[in-house]
Amino acid sequence: MGQGPSGLNRPPNSGDKNQNSDKKDKKFEPAAPPARVGRKQRKQRGPDAAARVPVVTPHTKCKLRLLKLERVKDYLLMEEEFVANQERLKPQEEKTEEDRSKVDDIRGSPMSVGNLEELIDENHAIVSSSVGPEYYVGIMSFVDKDQLEPGCSILMHNKVLSVVGILQDEVDPMVSVMKVEKAPLESYADIGGLDPQIQEIKEAVELPLTHPELYEDIGIKPPKGVILYGEPGTGKTLLAKAVANSTSATFLRVVGSELIQKYLGDGPKLVRELFRVADELSPSIVFIDEIDAVGTKRYDAHSGGEREIQRTMLELLNQLDGFDSRGDVKVILATNKIESLDPALLRPGRIDRKIEFPLPDIKTRRRIFTIHTSKMTLAEDVNLEEFVMTKDEFSGADIKAICTEAGLLALRERRMKVTHVDFKKAKEKVMYKKKEGVPEGLYM
Ligand SMILES: Nc1ncnc2c1ncn2[C@@H]1O[C@H](COP(=O)(O)OP(=O)(O)OP(=O)(O)O)[C@@H](O)[C@H]1O
Ligand SMILES: [Mg+2]
Repeated sequence: MGQGPSGLNRPPNSGDKNQNSDKKDKKFEPAAPPARVGRKQRKQRGPDAAARVPVVTPHTKCKLRLLKLERVKDYLLMEEEFVANQERLKPQEEKTEEDRSKVDDIRGSPMSVGNLEELIDENHAIVSSSVGPEYYVGIMSFVDKDQLEPGCSILMHNKVLSVVGILQDEVDPMVSVMKVEKAPLESYADIGGLDPQIQEIKEAVELPLTHPELYEDIGIKPPKGVILYGEPGTGKTLLAKAVANSTSATFLRVVGSELIQKYLGDGPKLVRELFRVADELSPSIVFIDEIDAVGTKRYDAHSGGEREIQRTMLELLNQLDGFDSRGDVKVILATNKIESLDPALLRPGRIDRKIEFPLPDIKTRRRIFTIHTSKMTLAEDVNLEEFVMTKDEFSGADIKAICTEAGLLALRERRMKVTHVDFKKAKEKVMYKKKEGVPEGLYM
């Protein structure tokens, strides 16, 4: 179009051009010799020049030019409108795009995780979501059907629940949570006494993982696992934490109660999954704390829930038998009620080593006191020997409680140092809570 107007404009312009060029010549003349200037100026001022300017003849040519210019104007107007519209509409498109992404964000991830229960035909399957109910849904065409098999974890669309993908790593998310990524802070140095226990657990758990050849040389099979038992607060969990801290093997920790699941069959499945993952990540150590939650003696179970717990334990027995003993998976169990555990769980061949955690003796008490007071500011008059030599029965946890309580008492009076009186009061408080203040059997 840009060519149009200029092309149209040219012919009329060319008419003017002659006049213009004349005028220009005249304008530039002054620099020229005066004789010529004089003549030309006279000529311009003359009647001829005056008459020439107003000669405007409305020829058909001019009308044509007007017409063309009007059309150009129309065109330009149209163009202006187009540009204006363009500007008005474009941000709107961007805005809708923005809104859409915002809505998507609010809606959350467009997928959820489920379980494939059964394949019906090429394009349909029955799935269950984590919430519970099962659905008959379609399978998207882009999903690789060869990899689909009953029981695998799948990605589902969050509204229509159709299968949109497969989770390659079909590890139960529950199990991956159990893996200890960050080593606990407790180390062997934080344990007072318990030297024979530490040695036993090292022999039974760490050495077979690091030096299996030693056991081969002697010709024995290393134990599959150990059970730590003893009074509450004697450092069982603490020792397991120290093992996790020092070992380079994968450490998986579970609390017995976690193995009790809401849905039937989920508990045993979790146990299976746990040992499968342990095998995959071997060498590894599986630590099940408070095993009495699932490992109690088998009675005639009355409720379905009890039976389910028993099945979970049976699966545990099965898994303990399942992997060969020199496999790189070791099990540590911990409980404070070994007498209530099922004998099958503890029979030789499953958990061979039973490590007892006694209440600390005098030497151990002294060590534990030193460990727990090492970071405290003590006054000169503090005589810890008095508490070490006492006849009362203390567990490691009690000693820790006494130290903490004494610190709190000093803090209450805004003192910077913990005195002997603080320790005395703290001990009385802890012992009172333990012995008299609370009914038998309730441990605080
Ligand atoms: N031998 C010890 N040396 C140092 N601290 C100890 C010792 N025994 C116990 N403690 C202290 O007592 C606290 C509790 O111990 P822990 O959690 O290991 O008890 P537990 O034996 O697992 O008890 P439960 O059977 O009730 O689970 C620990 O955090 C630790 O501070
Ligand atoms: Mg414990």
